[in-house]
Amino acid sequence: MADQGTTGENREEPVIATPEESNATLWSRRDFFCLAGWCGIGAGLGIGGVAFGRFMFPRVLFEPEAVFKAGQPEEYPVGTVSERWKQEEGVWIVHEPEGFYALLAVCTHLGCTPNWLNTENKFKCPCHGSGFRRDGINFEGPAPRPLERVKIDVAEDGQLVIDKSVQFRYERGDWTKPGAFLKLKV
Ligand code: FES
Repeated sequence: MADQGTTGENREEPVIATPEESNATLWSRRDFFCLAGWCGIGAGLGIGGVAFGRFMFPRVLFEPEAVFKAGQPEEYPVGTVSERWKQEEGVWIVHEPEGFYALLAVCTHLGCTPNWLNTENKFKCPCHGSGFRRDGINFEGPAPRPLERVKIDVAEDGQLVIDKSVQFRYERGDWTKPGAFLKLKV
């Protein structure tokens, strides 16, 4: 009687999967739908996160403050045009014996920034040569009208306060209105 355990007649042959069968095992339909589901959840969370970010940080244009305090009146010698706030705020503060006014440093021709020429006692625009007297009146070049004044007042703490949102135009008669000139003897 032959030993069945040692003869190869009844030994089962190993099953070798075809390439198609191997792929089917690697990416079953269940795996595919599971992965697709997670991708969908991830995308949903991403979109939700972006929407939440927009809600928390909306696209707001943060404009500079129109009102600023310019220090004590005594800091401005009588008879001077101060350029202290020209760079930061675009304003000159002029101190005359009768009081103060504030001029916007914007040329009324095409909007360049004029320079104060102390020795010539005038503002001169570098772009096309317009000239303005120390009170802001235009007298040479293509500028069609005087510089604009902005509101000047005194705050409760005694500092000069400038409000650039309130502007006064000479040709409309605004320079006689309150705020266009601050009567203050220092
Ligand atoms: S912008 Fe000042 S003269 Fe033209």
